Amino acid sequence: MLAKVRTFALEGLDGLPVTVEVDVRRGLPAFSVVGLPDRAVRESRERVRAALANSGVNFPQQRVTVNLAPASLRKTGPSFDLAIAVAVVAADGGLPGGDLLDAVCGELSLSGEIRPIRGALAMALAARRGGVARMLVPVANAPESALADGLEVIGVPTLAELLELLRGDRTAEPAMPALAVDGPDRDGPDLADVRGQADARRALEIAAAGGHNLLMIGPPGAGKTMLARRLPGILPPPTMAEAIEITKVQGVAGLARGGLVTRRPFRAPHHTISASGLVGGGVPPKPGEVTLAHRGVLFLDELPEFARASLEALRQPLEDGSVVVVRGQRAVEYPARAMLLAACNGCPCARPAGECTCNDVDRIRYARRLSGPLLDRIDLVCELGQPPPPIPAGKLEPGESSGRVRERVLAARELQTERLRDEGVSCNAAMDARLTRRTVLLRDATCARPALERLSGRGQDRVLRLARTIADLADSEQVLLEHLDEAVGYRLNDPHRAAA
Ligand SMILES: Nc1ncnc2c1ncn2[C@@H]1O[C@H](COP(=O)(O)OP(=O)(O)O)[C@@H](O)[C@H]1O
Ligand SMILES: [Mg+2]
Ligand SMILES: [Zn+2]
Repeated sequence: MLAKVRTFALEGLDGLPVTVEVDVRRGLPAFSVVGLPDRAVRESRERVRAALANSGVNFPQQRVTVNLAPASLRKTGPSFDLAIAVAVVAADGGLPGGDLLDAVCGELSLSGEIRPIRGALAMALAARRGGVARMLVPVANAPESALADGLEVIGVPTLAELLELLRGDRTAEPAMPALAVDGPDRDGPDLADVRGQADARRALEIAAAGGHNLLMIGPPGAGKTMLARRLPGILPPPTMAEAIEITKVQGVAGLARGGLVTRRPFRAPHHTISASGLVGGGVPPKPGEVTLAHRGVLFLDELPEFARASLEALRQPLEDGSVVVVRGQRAVEYPARAMLLAACNGCPCARPAGECTCNDVDRIRYARRLSGPLLDRIDLVCELGQPPPPIPAGKLEPGESSGRVRERVLAARELQTERLRDEGVSCNAAMDARLTRRTVLLRDATCARPALERLSGRGQDRVLRLARTIADLADSEQVLLEHLDEAVGYRLNDPHRAAA
């Protein structure tokens, strides 16, 4: 007898439909899996056999052949276990009715428990696209899968319960989507903790307001890392569509915690990370840090310590907002729309200006490591000095809180949303050259010319985008000379001005 069960494979961030066909016929007992399975899938035979036995089902003493279709798609991981087990039972006559209408995804333990899988939301979205009405998933993944609107999702704890459900001996309530497990990022670290550093705070606010990439340069202990960690707290909360994207990415990476992720990610990979760790790759392909930071922040602390090859690899994703990972004949695309935040010391000895022992050669060598691939993706560069000393407790006047800064950021973002509504971009940093020239209205264009003239075409666009954001923060429809002047000041001429 032949039975078919629908399930899904992951390709990049998307679920693709897979049909598990099982044929049970007379012959010497055998159990084989065909259809481009990887080792984890082939091993599912052992899990399925044991799980069925431990769920009170006799494994057919016949020739059992499993085909995963389409055969051209490479199948990886253990998420096909459950569909295979159900199809085996159905092909052996253990379920009423013909082919199963429900889609089934899950990994099995030997005892028959259904274990969570990666990519549950991506698969559920694919199921909805494919017209599936009901999907049976591991209990732990149910709130995530249920985010796919209009799909009925049932979380099932064990294979035995799943079979009872399919036989009609048990009913189950559809899972509710878990909305807002995180809530807005209000309880992260607060800017009120940062002493002084007015310039850097201003730069961080502008970066947040326009979505600009930012590099902070300053001596150790100035508070660069501290400021960086406070960026997510002043960004606007993700829209529903962005939250779904973030949840999908985290689900595929195995980081999802069971519901809608409503907090923007903050990723701070160590500088020893490889290029493929940063942008994605490997067999099977995995998303890199820039994808895990999608719709959030990618923080590269100690920027010059990163391997040049890693930074080169990051360039294209930052430009395009997506990464293409090539694996064999196939290309997998991951989203990579992250804000880049980077920090570095002013010189290799990393001491304050007065105590610096670096000579020019040291400094030039250090600067070379910095310049190049990434710098032209960075709109804003700011320099920090030593922070003011702590004032005795009690007299401490706290800095402005993240909540207040976030209000200004949100107001500036609203102006951008309004202005860019029909342009397909969400913030000033995402405007291309054409759009920048069209939307940035310079008042006093003649006076502005000297400030712009010294810059390259690309440099001008960068300054104009930044000036647009500064004007938005000032609630000014036109970009004034003062906005332009401030924007020009955030350019990087020599990354080591601070140390020189
Ligand atoms: N501006 C500041 N305000 C308050 N504390 C600071 C400031 N700068 C540094 N610190 C303190 O020093 C520690 C190290 O700062 P950090 O942000 O790691 O510096 P950096 O990354 O520039 O080397 C912080 O954990 C914090 O306690
Ligand atoms: Mg630091
Ligand atoms: Zn030095």
